[in-house]
Amino acid sequence: MPEGTVERTLVLVKPDGVRRGLVGEILGRLERKQLRIVAAKLTAVSTSTAESHYGEHKGKPFYPGLVTHITSAPVFAAVLEGRSAISVVRAITGATNPQTAAPGTIRGDLALGVTPNLIHASDSPASAEREMALFFQPSELHEYARTGAEYA
Ligand code: RTP
Ligand code: MG
Repeated sequence: MPEGTVERTLVLVKPDGVRRGLVGEILGRLERKQLRIVAAKLTAVSTSTAESHYGEHKGKPFYPGLVTHITSAPVFAAVLEGRSAISVVRAITGATNPQTAAPGTIRGDLALGVTPNLIHASDSPASAEREMALFFQPSELHEYARTGAEYA
């Protein structure tokens, strides 16, 4: 019996992931997990959007470098949907510091630096709602049935 509420979560492949050519690798891992892409685009992040997105970190030592990084090149923004999508994507993402992130996770397998750690993923339903609205209009979110849905 499938378990878990169907959720939507915001994923950003950060500028380091875009510049390293890892968009397909990262999105592929999430697609293979049977998460549904409901929105996706390559987009530049303005300083004001970066400051809003990372507002919870304002005042922390790494905050200026984080805003500089996320605005340094385009990000690939996507909304993923599926059962328990928020916690599932966080688990696939791995710990914040790639040097200690578990092997098998995106950060554990593919990154080394902590600010350029490839991917952002929403950490709660409230964060997901706020972050999806920052990056997408409602008209950019698409509904469709994935094949193989009986296994998800
Ligand atoms: P994210 O928000 O990007 O999904 O990452 P997270 O929840 O795992 O980590 P969080 O604590 O929210 O930090 C946001 C991003 O800030 C950068 N960071 N740098 N130099 C540092 O000590 C440091 N700590 C955090 C990372 O890019 C992290 O993902
Ligand atoms: Mg975070």
